Amino acid sequence: MARVTAAAPALHGGAPAGWLDFSANLNPLGVPSAVGAAIATAGYERYADLDAAAAERHLAAEAGVRAESVMLTAGATEALRLIAGACLGPGDRALLVGPTYGEYARLAALHGADLSELRASAPSFRPPVEALAQELRDSRPGVAFLCDPNNPTGQAVSRRAYDHLLNALASPSTRSSLVVIDQSFAPFAAVRFPDADLLATDRVLLVRSLTKLLAVPGIRVGYVIGHPRLLARLRAFRDPWPVGAHAIAAAAVASWSLSPARRRRIAAWRRSLTDGLRARGLRPYRSVTNFLLVEVGAAAPAVVERAARRRIGVRSCASFGLPEFVRLAVRPPHEQARLLAALDEILPGVRP
Ligand SMILES: Cc1ncc(COP(=O)(O)O)c(C=O)c1O
Repeated sequence: MARVTAAAPALHGGAPAGWLDFSANLNPLGVPSAVGAAIATAGYERYADLDAAAAERHLAAEAGVRAESVMLTAGATEALRLIAGACLGPGDRALLVGPTYGEYARLAALHGADLSELRASAPSFRPPVEALAQELRDSRPGVAFLCDPNNPTGQAVSRRAYDHLLNALASPSTRSSLVVIDQSFAPFAAVRFPDADLLATDRVLLVRSLTKLLAVPGIRVGYVIGHPRLLARLRAFRDPWPVGAHAIAAAAVASWSLSPARRRRIAAWRRSLTDGLRARGLRPYRSVTNFLLVEVGAAAPAVVERAARRRIGVRSCASFGLPEFVRLAVRPPHEQARLLAALDEILPGVRP
């Protein structure tokens, strides 16, 4: 297990306006029409427009939990910030399963926590959740972060691995640990998540971004599900009026699920992107979600840089400790055709 010490700002995807953006992991099907309409007509002239209760009831009903178990947040980002603020302080132990989203490490370091990483490695990148379960028993971290499906590897935790985690959480020796599961990319995966079993432990928080699924990164919206006692701890760290009226209006009509037909369409686009990359000698990894981790080799930085010169956003994975990899969002076929045509120009000039 590796000690993590740096508190460098986390890098994130997202290309400038007007670019072809394969660097941000947004829903390639775009903004659902009901969500677009709710945002366009949202009221924002009264403080009452900032009451999130109806949106929380709606999301709770869909999740099959009580309304008190849901807290609407300004993106998954606010949820993670509140968790770190409420649950981590100097010297507390935090654990993460990497390589993963950079905010967990940044927030843990910001709060002075002592951070360790259990790291999946190539070629399988299988998340070491059995090792996480063991660490919960042995070293009793205050907070453990698990991203499922994981950014940037696109892998999901298996049901067997979850059974290990649930067994560990049932053990009295893990009673002081909180497990944070970031499910921000879960709706894109045709996988069942054992949410009810996890929530029944009272020591799990499920963090969900809606900005990815609704393709609205400019509307900061997400939510967290957990025991009301845990949510009360997070609330103590909030500013007043944390979620804007447009985000609340979007959440009130949003669904945390994609229809099977939509998921199948994205899966077909994922397959065609995978095939196109393989045909060019690159190595995309199997993913259950709306992005692909791609092994490029030593030419990865040059590919990112030359794509940027063509105003195409490709996410370097150097910040994940994977300098020979890039991450590509699954985008519609006409956008893929432009990316692949650009790669045909770029690759012959950068390969050793
Ligand atoms: C795993 C993960 N969680 C959370 C977030 C942040 O989500 P939001 O935009 O809802 O704050 C991201 C953004 O890239 C992410 O990749």
